Amino acid sequence: MIYFVTGNKGKHAEARAIFGDLVQKDIGYTEIQADTLEEVAAYGMKEVSSRLEGPVMIEDAGLFVDALHGFPGVYSAYVQKTIGNSGILRLMERVEKRSAYFKSVVAYAEPGQESVMFKGEVHGKIGFEERGRKGFGYDPIFYVDDISLGEMEIEEKNRISHRAASMNALKEWLEARKG
Ligand code: IMP
Repeated sequence: MIYFVTGNKGKHAEARAIFGDLVQKDIGYTEIQADTLEEVAAYGMKEVSSRLEGPVMIEDAGLFVDALHGFPGVYSAYVQKTIGNSGILRLMERVEKRSAYFKSVVAYAEPGQESVMFKGEVHGKIGFEERGRKGFGYDPIFYVDDISLGEMEIEEKNRISHRAASMNALKEWLEARKG
């Protein structure tokens, strides 16, 4: 059993489809203002592992739009809350270069152990409109092969997503350790 500290139901549903034995803990932690997702996750992990007894996992993700020089990146949560998907679409009006990627950093630790980190990315495009209601956050505007992540069932998203990549890497690491 692993504690997954997140307040995001969408993330939890995706992670549960990978790990099965996962308990969501919506206890919050400090998300520092930093230049990289890795720094945010490392700081958060220190805080969370001092508060929970047992194997614990957190995950930090961001959307990086090439034409916007990587924006919103580490500011993805704030930008989603403020200008949202329609704001990103407005920033991308008349922009031809639509490439973007999501990155996920997952941190995991057991009591008294050093934490480990795994990363994943999915590359795609910012569409011209929002499509689909299945995912969360930026899913409706992020397209892979002309289908938005918002149009995908969890199983489909988990075949390609940044989060599935980072979490499957952790899962493999845990399984390899078991021997
Ligand atoms: P955080 O990892 O919770 O800090 O996420 C940063 C922001 O990116 C939030 O607004 C999330 O909704 C959004 N986000 C994170 N992962 C995804 C995803 O898989 N799809 C769409 N939006 C995401």
